[in-house]
Amino acid sequence: MPSPHIQITPSILNADFASLGAEVARIGSADWVHVDVMDNHFVPNLTFGPAMVEALARSTSTPLDAHLMIEDADVHAPAYVEAGCGSVTFHVEATKAPVRLAREIRAAGARASMALKPATPIEPYEALLPELDMVLLMTVEPGFGGQKFLDLCLPKIRRARELMDKHGVETWLQVDGGVSLETIERCAEAGADVFVAGSAVYNADDPDAMVTALRTAAEAVQEQRG
Ligand code: DX5
Ligand code: ZN
Repeated sequence: MPSPHIQITPSILNADFASLGAEVARIGSADWVHVDVMDNHFVPNLTFGPAMVEALARSTSTPLDAHLMIEDADVHAPAYVEAGCGSVTFHVEATKAPVRLAREIRAAGARASMALKPATPIEPYEALLPELDMVLLMTVEPGFGGQKFLDLCLPKIRRARELMDKHGVETWLQVDGGVSLETIERCAEAGADVFVAGSAVYNADDPDAMVTALRTAAEAVQEQRG
């Protein structure tokens, strides 16, 4: 199996919400812009809805990677495909029919992705992998930027990569939470290929240089993994 392609998907959760268009323009070398949608129910925080995401999609040529931390994802996720997101991630803990929803997202023209909180195991979802374009493994409890990376998630990253290899799927493996220059190598070593970084990128003096530094660090590990 060829090595997966490393991608950096900065989260704008730690950006200046009053100037989102300009903030996204500061990360020109990002592969995707990660947009954290929170509803104050699934997580104790509130961010953007479809209208704001649609405006953001219009303001940049970088594709949007929506991470929906919302209840009733079955009902609300399609609106984010319509808003112009190229990838839509729902949480399995907030979805009644993940297969149906993944198919609906794909049919509407976006990449379908499923997220797991730190305590949710990957094994029960092995059979779903061919239905998914990406799996997002949370490496903090969802809800806020700037939290400490949970090393206890590393075995699950490794396990998810094994299952993907076993099934020969090209599903991307994204990690989200506490990813920085200090932790990205551990994630890449375990088999992640898509990296969300919020505070590490937007707290940096030069956010785009940090995107490049993160990419270089992950690619170096991947070359060693072979
Ligand atoms: C947290 C969000 C993350 C967050 C990451 O629930 O899903 O995308 O923005 O922020 P950092 O990289 O600061 O942990
Ligand atoms: Zn996120």
